[in-house]
Amino acid sequence: MSLLPRVITLPGHLVRRFWWASTARPLGPAAKSMALSHLTPAEQRLFLAMDVSDQRHHVQVARRFVDEVGQDVPRAWVAAALLHDVGKRVCGLGTVGRVVATLLPFGRRGDGPIGRYHRHEPIGASMLLSAGSDPDTVALVGHWPEAPSRPAVALKRADDL
Ligand SMILES: [Fe+2]
Repeated sequence: MSLLPRVITLPGHLVRRFWWASTARPLGPAAKSMALSHLTPAEQRLFLAMDVSDQRHHVQVARRFVDEVGQDVPRAWVAAALLHDVGKRVCGLGTVGRVVATLLPFGRRGDGPIGRYHRHEPIGASMLLSAGSDPDTVALVGHWPEAPSRPAVALKRADDL
């Protein structure tokens, strides 16, 4: 998306992001149990290290993902939905910083927070490789070409909030 449409849609996007971040509460027992049941112990540690608003976002996306793909969805695919943005954790940006980073046309290739934010997909895949995750989980989070196409499409749709 070019800069102008992003600037035009910014107010609504900002309001939604702020509302989401400022009203986020810790996951309830059912949501937390659902999330952890689809994750390996190493993946659970990554999930629990995310802040509350990120955990809630991932649970919301995972529920939408399962609704679309079906209840017999492989665990590794749900794990990808539950961790698809895990790489954002290492960018060091808060809610405002992330919104600004999506708008800025510069700094995307550097090693600073904006650069890391724009590389969160390969960073997340690398984190999951280190965690010993299933190859499908890694490929889906990293948006690798070898990622299975059906869950890749469903995950993209589920994340379109
Ligand atoms: Fe997301």
